Amino acid sequence: MRYLTFALAKGRLAKKSLEMFEKIGITCEEMKDEKTRKLIFVNEELKIKFFLAKAGDVPTYVEYGAADIGVVGKDTILEEGRNLYEVMDLGFGKCKMCVCGPESARELLKHHEMIRVASKYPNIARDYFYNKKHQTVEIIKLNGSVELAPIVNLSEVIVDIVETGSTLRENGLTVLEEVCPLSARMVVNQVSMKMENERIMKLINDLKNIL
Ligand code: PRP
Repeated sequence: MRYLTFALAKGRLAKKSLEMFEKIGITCEEMKDEKTRKLIFVNEELKIKFFLAKAGDVPTYVEYGAADIGVVGKDTILEEGRNLYEVMDLGFGKCKMCVCGPESARELLKHHEMIRVASKYPNIARDYFYNKKHQTVEIIKLNGSVELAPIVNLSEVIVDIVETGSTLRENGLTVLEEVCPLSARMVVNQVSMKMENERIMKLINDLKNIL
């Protein structure tokens, strides 16, 4: 039997993923050590390998077959637009992709004005404004702390993830429009889905039973 390989998005999602896999008997003790700098973890008994990647790279590892399976947020899946199968909503990591800004920017979204939109997710932002709203905007790609942009007049609005809403509140911003709901998803390489169908379907069914 060959190894089945899982790419997990480093951080909160990986922790939640491991808790979920534990419930169906897939364990990896050495991965729980929060101080470890290791990136690959093996369960020899189950012939399973886990590795930790940056969230944005998980779909890449899965598309190329370096990982059979990935666990990653819907935001990353949409932004990366890779060829893979999204097989399951795992129900954790729930949040929303939203257009946010100061209350005063609400009007700018109503009249197809040319505005600047800052985001860590330029593809999602472009798709929303161009294809859904039919509003021509300038997209500015940022790498984090996106809430800064409208405060310092880099952009009129942002497209970003809102979970509790506290980052927005503490910076005097608000949700202006909702783009889509988000949560952690399981994705599968298209060839692995055929070659390892039995093992992957069992995994999906076991997860469905506990979710
Ligand atoms: C995310 C997101 C928001 C914040 C939303 O940022 O980009 O800034 O969390 O969460 P809240 O609604 O609960 O406040 P993250 O912490 O990942 O850091 P980043 O700013 O570097 O993207």
